[in-house]
Amino acid sequence: MISFTLNGQQVDADLPPDTPLLWVVREHFGLSGSKFGCGKGLCGACTLHIDGAATRSCVMPLAAVAGRAVTTIEGLAQGEQLHPVQQAWLAHNVPQCGYCQPGQIMSASALLATNAKPSDDDIDAAMSGNLCRCGTYPRIRKAIKSLAASGVQQFDPKVQEVSQ
Ligand code: FES
Ligand code: FES
Repeated sequence: MISFTLNGQQVDADLPPDTPLLWVVREHFGLSGSKFGCGKGLCGACTLHIDGAATRSCVMPLAAVAGRAVTTIEGLAQGEQLHPVQQAWLAHNVPQCGYCQPGQIMSASALLATNAKPSDDDIDAAMSGNLCRCGTYPRIRKAIKSLAASGVQQFDPKVQEVSQ
């Protein structure tokens, strides 16, 4: 039995310790926002936060999150209040097919939680592992830059707590 925090709730998973975390959140906990793309840590579709850091859950075994805090795209909003990154994504019409977007948003929110005014290089470094077959990269960059310009500081309190 492996215990960890999932979107603010203490949970237990009675699964083999080498089960990929992506399977755990999607199949065991029914949180299907994190997507399967490559299964090899190369595309970013499965990105979620572990202790506030953007992490590829397809290559992360369940055992590695014992006692840690996992946040998926489903846990990013505060009730009805969308996370500022989600709001910016809507404002800039970022998604096309949408498949890669949960991962993109989780990478962007982790970046902005620790670096509220990222430079172009910072954005490239944080987002380069998230691939988009639809080529939404310019809108992703625009949305991140709009948040940096607006000086919005209240990103994910759970992330900020961990990063301090
Ligand atoms: S599915 Fe995890 S990085 Fe591609
Ligand atoms: S929006 Fe289609 S893969 Fe990114």
